[in-house]
Amino acid sequence: MIIEPRMRGFICLTAHPTGAEQNVKNQIEYVKSKGAINGAKKVLVIGASTGFGLSSRITSAFGSDASTIGVFFEKAPSEGKPGSPGWYNSAAFEKEAHKAGLYAKSINGDAFSNEIKKQTIDLIKKDLGQVDLIIYSLASPVRTHPDTGVTHRSVLKPIGGVFSNKTVDFHTGKVSEISIEPCKDDDIENTVTVMGGEDWAMWMKALKEAGALAEGALTVAYSYIGPALTEPVYRKGTIGRAKDHLEATAFEISDALKDINGKAFVSVNKALVTQASSAIPVIPLYISLLYKTMKEAGLHEGTVEQMQRLYAERLYTGGDIPVDEKGRIRIDDWEMRDDIQQRVAELWEQATTENLNEIGDLEGYRKDFYNLFGFDYEGVDYKADVNEVVPIESIQ
Ligand code: NAI
Ligand code: NA
Repeated sequence: MIIEPRMRGFICLTAHPTGAEQNVKNQIEYVKSKGAINGAKKVLVIGASTGFGLSSRITSAFGSDASTIGVFFEKAPSEGKPGSPGWYNSAAFEKEAHKAGLYAKSINGDAFSNEIKKQTIDLIKKDLGQVDLIIYSLASPVRTHPDTGVTHRSVLKPIGGVFSNKTVDFHTGKVSEISIEPCKDDDIENTVTVMGGEDWAMWMKALKEAGALAEGALTVAYSYIGPALTEPVYRKGTIGRAKDHLEATAFEISDALKDINGKAFVSVNKALVTQASSAIPVIPLYISLLYKTMKEAGLHEGTVEQMQRLYAERLYTGGDIPVDEKGRIRIDDWEMRDDIQQRVAELWEQATTENLNEIGDLEGYRKDFYNLFGFDYEGVDYKADVNEVVPIESIQ
C-alpha cells in the first residue's frame, strides 16, 4: 500500500516501514562513524523500539558488537493496516544486526507485567546466560501494577497552582497563551507509580534472583531536568515527582547489587521531539527555540548522538563514570549551558506566531516529528507501493 501520514491531534496514526528502516540505517552509520566503544557485550534494552532506547540498542550493537535483547510494546502490522513506528524500527534493527552477524532478539509485550519479565529472563538464560548492561527506557502513560492488577495513569500537570505560559501548535505555528490546571487527588501518586523507579527495581530484582546479571553489571535509566521555564509543568510537576523517584531508585538498586559489584545510574538527557514531549504544552515551543539555538551553536544532537556520547564519554571511558552532586550522569550538559539557556530565555520573551518561523526551528521540530513515524526521510520514495506487513525476524 501507499502509506501517508494520518494525523489526529498530536498523534500520527500511520507509520512508514521504509522510512523507519532509513532512520535505523542512519543511526547505525552514525554510531559506526564514531568508532568502536569498549562497552558491554550482552545488553538488555527495556523500551528498545523508539527514542533513546532504540538509539541505546543501536549504540550497543554497532558500537560494541553487543548481543541485544529488546523489550517493547508495539502494534504489529496487518494487511492494509500499518504497524506502529517502533515495530518497523525493530524489524529494521534486527535485519541490520543479523546482516552484521550480531545476535538480536525482541520481545513484544507489557514490560510492567510479571509474564514479560519472566519471558525475557528465560531468553537471557537460554541464549546469553547473563547480561552486563540493562538500559531502562520506558515511557508510558499507563501501568497495570502486577501485584494489585490496578491500572494507573500518569498525568503531566503542575502541582499546587495553575500554570500559564506560552505554547505553540507546531502544526499551524500558532503561538498562544495556555493555562494548565494543577493536578488533584491521586495524580502525583499515579504518575510516580507509572514513571517512577518501582518497575525498574522490580526488573533488576528479578534479573538478579535468576542469576541473569553478570559481575559488574551496569543499569541506566533516563531522566530529564530542563530549564526554569518549563519547571512548573515538568520538573516541579507530576512527572518531576516520578523522575525524583526514579533517581532515588538508582541508589537503592546500586545497594542491592553491591555483592556483584553492579551499579545503577540515571542519565539526564536532552529535550527532544518524541510522541510524549509533543503532547506536553509549552515544551514544543521550548524545543523549537532550543533546536534553533543549539543548531546555530553547532551543539545540536538527536537521540543517537546523545546515546553515542553517553556510552563513549561517560559509561565506557575506562575510568570512573562522571556524575553531578546528586549522582546523576549529565548528557544534557550542552542544553543546560548558560549561553544556550540565556539565549532561549531571550527568544522565549520575543516569540509570536509571526516571528517563530524565524527565531525558532519549527521546521526542524516538524521534521523530527514526522521522522518519528518514518516520514520525511531523504532517499525514501513515499509514492512507492510498500508491503506494510513487515515481520520482526525473531518474533514469528
Ligand atoms: P519513547 O516513547 O520514544 O520510547 C518508549 C519505549 O517504551 C518504546 O520502546 C515503547 O515501546 C516502550 N514501552 C512503552 N510502554 C511499554 C510497556 N508497557 N511495555 C513495554 N514497552 C513499553 O520515549 P523516549 O522519549 O525515548 O523516553 C525514554 C525515557 O527517556 C523516558 O524515561 C523519558 O522520560 C526519558 N527522557 C526523554 C526525553 C525527551 O525529550 N524525549 C528527555 C530526557 C529523558
Ligand atoms: Na525509548
